[in-house]
Order: sequence, then structure tokens, then C-alpha cells
Amino acid sequence: MATLQISSSLFRSFFLTLCLFVIPSLSSDSDPLQDFCVGDLKASPSINGFPCKSAVSASDFFYSGLGGPLDTSNPNGVTVAPANVLTFPGLNTLGISMNNVELAPGGVNPPHLHPRATEVGTIIEGSVFVGFLTTNNTLFSKVLNAGEVFVIPRGLVHFQWNVGQVKARMITAFNSQLPGAVVLPSTLFGSNPEIPNAVLTRAFRTDVTTVHNLKSKFAV
Ligand code: GLV
Ligand code: MN
Repeated sequence: MATLQISSSLFRSFFLTLCLFVIPSLSSDSDPLQDFCVGDLKASPSINGFPCKSAVSASDFFYSGLGGPLDTSNPNGVTVAPANVLTFPGLNTLGISMNNVELAPGGVNPPHLHPRATEVGTIIEGSVFVGFLTTNNTLFSKVLNAGEVFVIPRGLVHFQWNVGQVKARMITAFNSQLPGAVVLPSTLFGSNPEIPNAVLTRAFRTDVTTVHNLKSKFAV
């Protein structure tokens, strides 16, 4: 009997310890099992990332696509240049990526979230109002200047707004090779097929003219 009790409590502690190790490892991209695995983007992605390219050269590990200045003349006044596995396949299986984000004066990086990554960023130039929202609708925000850093916990809605008189630029980084971005205005009002008006009028407690108007701005 005593032996049975000891072994069931041993099993419980073993199970708890296992959970403690396994749960954190599920919270971001999985660890690499080899030095590198440059993604073969022509192959279909497998369970977690792309298959490895067979012939690799130095150029697979360098990328020049983040350089500015970026053209920010668009309705939101923001342009994002990503270095993720799709633009820089050398990142495949390494669990990281980054963006160069440029904002015109008054420009807004609209409320969005990254389903697969926590974001950390630093302002390179300009003054940026950075905010994120918790799941109980608390807003944490601050105006940041060059050299200051922010963090956005994984999956939380966040935005940036250039509150300065000149262009602002920041570099952001993610603990995923492909963090994904759900951009709320275009997801809700520019989806294909469209979300039924009845859903949006009810959800936003508004009328169909307002919903049509918003949809017309995000139509794909
Ligand atoms: C900023 O929020 C970014 O996703 O780069
Ligand atoms: Mn973001």
C-alpha cells in the first residue's frame, strides 16, 4: 500500500515537472535540431517551417531588404519591411525575425496582433506613441524616443503612432520566424469573403451605412 502511495506521488511530481518543461517550449517556435536549415520556399511547408534547401551559400545568411527610407505615402502613413522566413529563408527553424517600420508624421501602424510571437522594438529616430491592450482592455502606453525599447506580449493588440514632426523609424524583433499579423481594421472590414453586415452592425452597435463605408475603405 505504502509503495503504491509513494509511486503515485512520484508519478504526480514527474508529471508536474514534465509540464513545467513542456509548456514553455510550446510558447514559441521550436528549438532547432541542427546548425541551420535554410528554407526551401519552393517546397510546401512541413509541420513547422520549410524543408531545408540542399545547396547553401554565404548569401543565404545575409539580407539587405530592411534598408530605408521606405515610402510612407499611404492612407495610414506607415510602411513595414519584414525580414521573416518568407523574405529571408536563412531564418527557417531559428525562431526569430525582425521588421523595419517607418511612420510619416502623424502616421499610425494600425491596431494589430501577432498570433505566434512576442514583439520587442526600439525607436531609431523620431517620437512614437506605443500602446498595447490587455485582455481586460487596459491600455499600457508611452511616448518613446530614439534608443528606447518596448515589448508587446504575444497575441496582444498594439499600435504605434508617430507623434513627432518628422519621420519616425523603429526596428522590431520577434521570437518567431513568421510571427503573422492580424491587422484589425482590414481583417474585420476587408476580409474575403466579407463578414456579413448583420454581424458587424451588431458587433459595433452601428448602422449598415457606417459598415458599408468602412468596408469600402478596406475592400481588397
Ligand atoms: C510593429 O508593431 C511591428 O509589428 O513591427
Ligand atoms: Mn506588431
